[in-house]
Amino acid sequence: MDGPARKRDLLSISDVAEELPSLLERAARLKSERQRGTGRATLPGRNLALLFEKPSARTRTSFEVAIRDLGGQATYLAPADVQVGQRESVADVARVLSRYVDAIAYRAFRHENVAELARWASVPVINALDDLEHPCQVVADLLTLRERWPGGFRGRRLAWVGDGNNVLHSLLLGCAAVGLDLTAAIPEAYRPRPNVVQAARALGDRTGANLAFAASPEQAARGADALYTDVWVSMGDEADEKARQLAFQRYRIDDELVALARPEAFVLHDLPAHRGQEITDSVMDGPRAAVWDQAENRLHGQKAILELLLRPGPARRRRK
Ligand code: CP
Ligand code: NVA
Repeated sequence: MDGPARKRDLLSISDVAEELPSLLERAARLKSERQRGTGRATLPGRNLALLFEKPSARTRTSFEVAIRDLGGQATYLAPADVQVGQRESVADVARVLSRYVDAIAYRAFRHENVAELARWASVPVINALDDLEHPCQVVADLLTLRERWPGGFRGRRLAWVGDGNNVLHSLLLGCAAVGLDLTAAIPEAYRPRPNVVQAARALGDRTGANLAFAASPEQAARGADALYTDVWVSMGDEADEKARQLAFQRYRIDDELVALARPEAFVLHDLPAHRGQEITDSVMDGPRAAVWDQAENRLHGQKAILELLLRPGPARRRRK
C-alpha cells in the first residue's frame, strides 16, 4: 500500500527554520553563479509537478526556470486540469503524481489540502502558497534583505503594513527564525492567527527577534529599516472585498509613510501589486522599491529549496 514515506516537505517556513541561514547562503551563491554563467546542473533529470489551484506569474515561472537551470524539468498542472478534491481526492492525486515526479509544488486554497497531499505523496511537497503560508516567498524576501544588509539581520527592523495574511504568517516565522525584528500594523479584525504569532514568538525567544504590533502604519514605519506590504484582498478572500477596501484605506505605503522610515530604508512587495491601493505608483516606481530584486530572488530561492529537498541521491523511495 502507498502511504507516508520518508521524505522532506516544505509546508511552512518553520520546516526549514534551522537551515534558513544556510539556505539563504546557498541561494545567494546560486544567484552569483547564474550571473557569472557558471551554474551547474545539480538536479539532472529531476521532475517537478506544479499543481496550481490559483493563478501565478512569479511562483510558476521561477519554479519552471529553476528546475530547468538545475538540469530537470517541470510539468504545470493548471487549476482546470486536476481539480484537486473534485475530480479526485487529494490522496489519490498525491499517490498518482508520486509515480511520475520527484517533487510537487502545490498552490492551494486550503492549507489542509497541502498537508493532506504531503501525507500521501511519497515525494517532497512544497507549499507554493495557501491560505495559511507562502514560505517560498519569504525565502526570497529574506534573501533580498540579506543582500541589502551585509551586516546581518540583528538590530534591523522590518515594518509590515496591511493584512495579517499568508505572507505575513510566513514572514513572522521567517523573521523570528533569523533574528530579525518585525513590527506589524494591521487592522484589529485582520490580525494574523494567534497560533502562528505564538509559534513565531517561541522561535523569536531563541534568536532574540522582537515581534510586535503597532497601533498605526505610521507607528510601524517610524525608524524602520524596510517596509513591506501585500494586497488587501488575497486570492480566496474576494467575498470580503468590500469590507477590506474600507478597513485597509489607511494601510498604504506612500511617499509620506516611506519618509518616516530610516533614510536608507527600502520597500518590499511580494507582487502582484494593486497600485493605488496598498502601494502608490510613486513608491513602486521610485528609488526605494526593492520589489524587482525581490521578484528575481524567487528564482534563486526556489533553486536552493529544490536542492535542499531533492539532494543528495535518489530523493524518493521507489516501489518494487
Ligand atoms: N508573489 C507571488 O507568489 O506571485 P505569483 O502569485 O504571481 O506567483
Ligand atoms: N496574499 C496574496 C499573495 C499573492 C502572491 C494572496 O494570497 O493572494
